[in-house]
Amino acid sequence: MMHDSQGPRLPPGPRGNFMLGNLLEAWRDPIGLMTQATAEHGDVVCLRFGPMRYVLVNHPDGVRHVLVENAKNYVKSKNYQGLKLVLGEGLLTSEGDAWKRQRKLAQPAFHRDRIAAFAAAMASDTEAMCAEWMSHPPSTLDVHAEMMRLTFRIVGRTLFGIDIDGEARAVGQALGFVVRFANDYVESLVRIPTWLPTPSNIAFKRAMVTLDGLVARIVEERRRSGRLGDDLLAMLLAARDETTGAAMTERQLRDEVMTIVLAGHETTANALTWTWWLLAHHPDVAARMRAEIDAVLGDRAPTLADLPRLPTVAHVLDESMRLYPPAWAFERRALAADTVMGYAVPRDATVGISPYVLHRHPAFWEDPERFDPDRFASERTAQRPKWVYLPFGGGPRTCIGASFAAMEAQIVLAMVARRFVLDVQPAQTVVPEPLVTLRPRGGLPMRVTARRDRALPSAA
Ligand code: HEM
Repeated sequence: MMHDSQGPRLPPGPRGNFMLGNLLEAWRDPIGLMTQATAEHGDVVCLRFGPMRYVLVNHPDGVRHVLVENAKNYVKSKNYQGLKLVLGEGLLTSEGDAWKRQRKLAQPAFHRDRIAAFAAAMASDTEAMCAEWMSHPPSTLDVHAEMMRLTFRIVGRTLFGIDIDGEARAVGQALGFVVRFANDYVESLVRIPTWLPTPSNIAFKRAMVTLDGLVARIVEERRRSGRLGDDLLAMLLAARDETTGAAMTERQLRDEVMTIVLAGHETTANALTWTWWLLAHHPDVAARMRAEIDAVLGDRAPTLADLPRLPTVAHVLDESMRLYPPAWAFERRALAADTVMGYAVPRDATVGISPYVLHRHPAFWEDPERFDPDRFASERTAQRPKWVYLPFGGGPRTCIGASFAAMEAQIVLAMVARRFVLDVQPAQTVVPEPLVTLRPRGGLPMRVTARRDRALPSAA
């Protein structure tokens, strides 16, 4: 490791290969690499990917420094180039004034009062899925695919005022492909230009046609209807530049809609999927949660006012996102050299934060691998530093949809758990696949059985 006697030194880290550094391990098993590096070298470690330095910060003080206190020094890392192929310059990937303007514009659509009105739509889409499941019980379903379809439908309905259920399958396949493509694009040492007609580029273009077609339909349908509406889409369409008075370009509009469609459903679907997996392995917690749901809701659909009365449901989701955070890592690039917890971060270095690894830090989480939703009871949460749990990121670039997602996940979990028990085979395994989000590799088949004591009153 480089040592500069004049100032702070680089963080320690695994030596790795002379040429490639830790690149091979990062390709093979990035979570394993990060877990081992922090266990062996401490809370700030330096990895090396070829010539690039990657400083992993795995302590709440360092995380707060990077995301909040010195946030101005950090922009999204080069790894977001892959996502840009799909999302363009939307809220998730843009920087500077363009980002600030768009964030200000979109923020009111996610205000608590605004999203409160979505609870009924979320409940009715969940009820429709339950009715479908009820019509062919008991069976094995790919729960990941089902959760993706449901959250996709909810985003379409609540934020864009459109029923996109018919497109769910095609979009799901296209999305699965482009996420892998974006990942490979970032990881490849030799970047093949996307315009070259290689088989993979051709398949990527085809998938993008599907996704762009969906976005175009969302926008066209609203314009054709002549209806203004008061949802996110209405805000995007009505936005005018403060100085020029110009509306968003078609490209900007496309990038924002694509960003919300994709960022707004896959993450929540993954959170729910991992929750079903964990509950299947912890029937005691599942039973306690069901008792709470039965007592508070009976057969009613949940409203926003019910959610604070369902603490076990909320804590189960919190704990599930601790163990399987859908955004398992996110990264920044340092604009200028910085010092994080006494260690040097060189200019242009990538700074990584991994909720997956941080959420298992043994100094802050007792018995970290154990599924224990009671960790999130308020008295225990108060004993932990805030920045040791960040499923939704933090600072200025924090997730705009955090409250939306939390409300949606609670409604879906409560309504489905009330009607069904989801089981796995005794020897069934699942492999977390850390791409842009943490998905179960190959989906998650589960056996879905209706609870005998809980028929669906309004299933028809
Ligand atoms: C459980 C569900 C979700 C999780 C775990 C999650 C996680 C995250 C995280 C960690 C970030 C910050 C990334 C970074 O700092 O680099 C983020 C940003 C973002 N999320 Fe979410 N998210 C979820 C749901 C949603 C939903 C429902 C929406 C929209 C409907 C959404 C839209 C966005 C957008 C637009 C950004 C970029 C914000 C900005 O940079 O200004 N997310 N999300």
